[in-house]
Amino acid sequence: MNILKIPLKNSGAEKTAWYIAPMSPIASFQFFRRNKLTLIVPGAVLGAVLALALQSGCASSRVGSPAPAPASPRERLSLDMDWRFTKGDPTNSQVSLLYDVRPQGRGGRGRRGGGAAAPTDAAPAPAPAVIKQWILPTGNDLIKDPAQRHTRPEGNLGGDVPYVQPAFDDSSWEHVNLPHDWAITGPWITNGDGGTGKLPYFGIGWYRKTLDLPKSDAGKSIFLDADGAMSYSTVWLNGQFVGGWPYGYESWRVDLTPFAKPGQKNELVIRLDNPPQSSRWYPGGGIYRNVWLVKTAPVHVAHWGTYITTPDVSAASATVKLKVTVENNSKQGVSVGVATQIFALDSDGNKTGPVVASIIGGLMGIAPGSSLVTEDKTILANPKLWGPYPDQKPNRYVAVTTLMQDGHTVDSYETPFGIRTLKFDPNEGFFINGQHLKINGVCDHHDLGALGAAINERALRRQLETLVDMGCNAIRTSHNPPAPELLDMADEMGLLVMDEAFDCWLSQKNNLDYHVLFADWHEQDLRAQLHRDRNHPCVFMWSIGNEVGEQGGGEAGAAVARGLADIVHEEDPTRPTTSAQNSAGASSPFPKTLDALGLNYQGAGGGLSPNAQYPVFHRNFPTNFVYGSETESTISSRGVYTFPVPQGIGAVAGPNSGEDAPNRQVSSYDLTFTSWATSPDKEFAAQDRYPFVGGQFVWTGWDYLGEPTPFNSRSSYFGIIDLAGFKKDRFYIYQAYWRPDFRMAHILPHWTWPERVGQVTPVHVYTSGDEAELFLNGQSLGRKKKGQYEYRLRWDDLVYQPGTLKVVAFKNGAEWATDVVNTAGAPAALAAAPDRAAIHADGQDLSFVTITVQDAKGVMAPRADNLIHFDITGPGEIAATDNGDATSFESFQSHDHKAFNGLCLVIIRSTKGAGPIVLKASSPGLKGASVTVQAQAPSI
Ligand code: GAL
Repeated sequence: MNILKIPLKNSGAEKTAWYIAPMSPIASFQFFRRNKLTLIVPGAVLGAVLALALQSGCASSRVGSPAPAPASPRERLSLDMDWRFTKGDPTNSQVSLLYDVRPQGRGGRGRRGGGAAAPTDAAPAPAPAVIKQWILPTGNDLIKDPAQRHTRPEGNLGGDVPYVQPAFDDSSWEHVNLPHDWAITGPWITNGDGGTGKLPYFGIGWYRKTLDLPKSDAGKSIFLDADGAMSYSTVWLNGQFVGGWPYGYESWRVDLTPFAKPGQKNELVIRLDNPPQSSRWYPGGGIYRNVWLVKTAPVHVAHWGTYITTPDVSAASATVKLKVTVENNSKQGVSVGVATQIFALDSDGNKTGPVVASIIGGLMGIAPGSSLVTEDKTILANPKLWGPYPDQKPNRYVAVTTLMQDGHTVDSYETPFGIRTLKFDPNEGFFINGQHLKINGVCDHHDLGALGAAINERALRRQLETLVDMGCNAIRTSHNPPAPELLDMADEMGLLVMDEAFDCWLSQKNNLDYHVLFADWHEQDLRAQLHRDRNHPCVFMWSIGNEVGEQGGGEAGAAVARGLADIVHEEDPTRPTTSAQNSAGASSPFPKTLDALGLNYQGAGGGLSPNAQYPVFHRNFPTNFVYGSETESTISSRGVYTFPVPQGIGAVAGPNSGEDAPNRQVSSYDLTFTSWATSPDKEFAAQDRYPFVGGQFVWTGWDYLGEPTPFNSRSSYFGIIDLAGFKKDRFYIYQAYWRPDFRMAHILPHWTWPERVGQVTPVHVYTSGDEAELFLNGQSLGRKKKGQYEYRLRWDDLVYQPGTLKVVAFKNGAEWATDVVNTAGAPAALAAAPDRAAIHADGQDLSFVTITVQDAKGVMAPRADNLIHFDITGPGEIAATDNGDATSFESFQSHDHKAFNGLCLVIIRSTKGAGPIVLKASSPGLKGASVTVQAQAPSI
């Protein structure tokens, strides 16, 4: 028999009630996992005893009172600062730490440009000893079938390796803070693999850090939580092997408790081994996301241990269902009370106002070394719904779950969530909270341009803000689970997220990509992603894979898809499972395994093909939602224009259709695309012709490192926004289409063509209006109206004369917006403009400063490539420089950088001091510029 004490705080003086926890009857429901015991208990059964108690005050009377969160021993501490880092294994080590024997040979689909010699100095020869049997048990909790779980071998893996030893002297290693991308500092491998960005992401890296664990940590559970490390992590504490996780995009936890020494210095060691030929884009290398030390009482809410759903939502009320998994890591059986209070959050994510609903989860008896799930629900009155701007607001709530044992709060765990309804209608498209919403989405990779793969919140927020300005309302996290910060921001900003798991399954795209892990790890990886992300209101679809080879694998390929879809349905039946299909035919078995049918390129018809598959899939799958999971793949370089300009909806890239091969650039008339892809104009027409199509995800929002189709450069040409964050012309054709109520007009190209006087130089205009009149030096060139399925206005016969181009756009006959472009004179001066003039003095915050090369009258010189030098003083540093040129092999860390077509970027990062940061830009022959950014200490 166990005893539970529940403090009743709401009645003024603190009272204590004692209840008898019915341990033995509960135990009879228990079933065993291999090492752990899991029990699923409907709250209604176990809650009865506790409910009685809470009725006397804990539950209902809390509603409406501003109850502070009770103190809990849970701590989540950043482990980002002060690591030692080195590349490569110790030369004198006899021990192989290779995860698994690597398949030999050259993989890769090889259908795309940009490939070159693969790195040669990184692939270790296959070793006789491999360590995967040691690593696999880390994922046991995420394997459903006990028979499939793994047993840790006897002994201590790597105990003899010098770098693992607590006494090893790492003082000569590099001092780094996390998040850290070891490859972004180069050097460029100019003859290397353009596909992965020509940076040295591959190889082995070691990280060491001393943890001071206070004596008071004795008896606590202590975990290491990594949001992501690239890749094949292996962890030791105090010379003892702890665990590891191979997939570099996954978040994972290892339990440090058995090896921790409270009251002493503890040596934490992490080895990464990032294989070459493991990615089709730049993956980065290193511990590139945040890392946390989590301390709890032995009885605590499990890792990602809550799951909230809202099955019934109306204006008057919402049902909030909550599952809580409680772990008992102690050596005794315990009785635990579970109670949850729900608060509204304000737009900054702070709790606001009183408790709006409570859940009395129940009283649970949990055997030692076991876990237990309780499931309960409550009704929340007048719910404020989560929905995307501009028509809705992303209102959020937080559920604060409290565990009580022996009269004490032993855990307090917060689960932010949102309440919204999703409808995926096969004929009418997507609805959120009853309102139709066209998915205006983009695909993006995870890198942050010149900052590399290391997550930085401000850089990511800038990416999302720029996309929102364009009218984007959805992100596809191609082709992997994102940093958790992306989901937090999307929740806050009202962006939808299609959360993707894999770029390949068993069928490889590269020799050492995820296909080598799929068999052993797909279940753990997928369940980890679902557990981590399923409470985020922004997540609206789960994508199990991108263009996987299994699409063409008949029934066998479909069976793999079905296995993954089953896992998704089991973990989260509230959202559809989807996959991005470029080759699955509408009559093949593959799409039958999916809820939502994502089509890559084939929806509108790839290239110039008139063979649109949207209607074919719609016909064959009359009950499924169909949408463009990946569209366009238009290519362009900001500020580059080639002639002749393709007619109609554009052309596949080639010498006379958009390519500037000698300079490895692509024209920005936005009518040039890869053979499998198309232009915005063609995709928009397909979306409008087939209104049942739910919308699209454009490839890509931002340029990214790697995949520089069609040339062998360092970064992509696909982005609507370049690698530095400067908008290409394409930005405005999307803004015109996605924000029809926003007054805008945009002229292209620039108008500085001394060599084209007297030559035909087409002018195109993007506008959210429906008509426009163009003027050259005050003379009208005629008024043009968009026809059906036309998305740009074009003056294709215009003969170039320098001067001023002006467009006046109209909507429904009334003047709507204007734009002006002037011919520039010779470069004469620099101008500097920060995106934020005040930043936090926290060593993380950034100001992105745009440097513009101008003529004497202040007109941007659109072809200037002057070399600019930067000096910085005050409490800030230059985190990176860039100009968005895919062909540039200037170092991202250099304080000297050339402009590309008139623009250059300097990223200033605060140090920890407050005060003015002054950036000076200078260039021979040009008037310099300077800008001040204030670093502000956090307000107390
Ligand atoms: C798609 C693929 C993307 C990217 C894109 C470039 O087929 O899914 O990852 O490679 O092509 O056009």
